Amino acid sequence: MSRKYKRAPKFNSHLDTVSTVRGSGWVRRRRLGAKRDPSATADGTDCVQVGGEVIMRGTKFMRQRVQTRMFVALLVVMTFVAGPLSALGQKTSPVAPTRAQAEAAVKEAYEKFKNDTNGKNADYIPVLAQVDSKLFGIAIVTTDNQVLTMGDINFSFSIQSISKVFSQALAMEELGPDKVFEKVGSEPTGRAFNSVFAVADMPTHTGNPYVNAGAIATVSLISGKTADEKWNKILDFYGRVAGEKLKLIDEVYKSEAATNTGNKALSMLLAKYDRIYADPFESVDVYTKQCSVGVNVAQLARMGATLANNGKNPATGEQVIKPENIPHILSTMIMAGLYDGSGGWAWHVGLPAKSGVGGGIVAVVPGKGAIAVFAPPLDEAGNSVKAQKVIEYVANRLDLNVFSPRSVGLKGE
Ligand code: DON
Repeated sequence: MSRKYKRAPKFNSHLDTVSTVRGSGWVRRRRLGAKRDPSATADGTDCVQVGGEVIMRGTKFMRQRVQTRMFVALLVVMTFVAGPLSALGQKTSPVAPTRAQAEAAVKEAYEKFKNDTNGKNADYIPVLAQVDSKLFGIAIVTTDNQVLTMGDINFSFSIQSISKVFSQALAMEELGPDKVFEKVGSEPTGRAFNSVFAVADMPTHTGNPYVNAGAIATVSLISGKTADEKWNKILDFYGRVAGEKLKLIDEVYKSEAATNTGNKALSMLLAKYDRIYADPFESVDVYTKQCSVGVNVAQLARMGATLANNGKNPATGEQVIKPENIPHILSTMIMAGLYDGSGGWAWHVGLPAKSGVGGGIVAVVPGKGAIAVFAPPLDEAGNSVKAQKVIEYVANRLDLNVFSPRSVGLKGE
């Protein structure tokens, strides 16, 4: 027997085949002339002579043979299945789509919707009307920090209402979910995001942390001796969720601060019902700043991926949000993330998501990752038209709907 077979000769299914596992993971087989040794050993193992070597068989040998086969099978799988193992979010979800599937879905969606001109930029914040309506970017970030991007991915747009998710998270980090639920609640309003009627009509008055009234109340819960201290804490927290420092877009802040009389009115109405927990106008100002934070579409997707990854930022590894708070956030996103469009969104797409009038939407796929889309023109409810279409397309193509058993790998017959 040659030297290279001497190190670990193993029998295969028949006595006359030897397999040797080599460093590369490849399996090499060679037929050998085998001669049976007539004497069986006491433990049920008999012997076979192969060339100059005696090799055991029987129960012990069979066990070795099964182990060997399993080992060989594993190596073959590792060699040939390396592609699918790089599936998106694979480390945390065994049913994540492959990278190739996700790339194809994103590319198709981009091509299908890039010329869609439906919707209109927000203009009640004057500077938003000036943003190029054709800007269009898509990003996916997975729970194992793979990144897929397409289109205008470097443009920094204002996060707007998407910020509300992360201020809700920060308030829960500080006060715990029960307190935030008691002080703000989590009831869909079925009304526009800036509705005064909802504040007057609803028993909680605040509705939920994603309508303007509930968001201003949420900001008022965040601790800080001064408004600046609160604001810096919020900005720092958003940066940790995104995995990099974020900045205020000053011209958005100035434009919104000059026109936010509606939000000031909401804060005074909340004061009437004892549902705001710090100075009303100061809270509106911090809220206006948080809405003016700039993000590009990949940063937004990473913020979503932190939620998908149970609160741990997939890029930095920092546990930014307590895992026990994640279900409260995602359930609020499903109920109220797209305002009075949330029911239709849950019906058609089935992913926790949040929109902002800056044109961004981020959708979270628990355990797998997040998809963010930026395209400024909005529908009547204030949700980006193209972003909704792209996310719906990709979610359907990749079986991501969290209400579908297919999303956890149950394909049916
Ligand atoms: O308070 C406002 O009106 C804006 N800063 C945020 C509104 C918003 O993004 C609603 N989103 N779809």
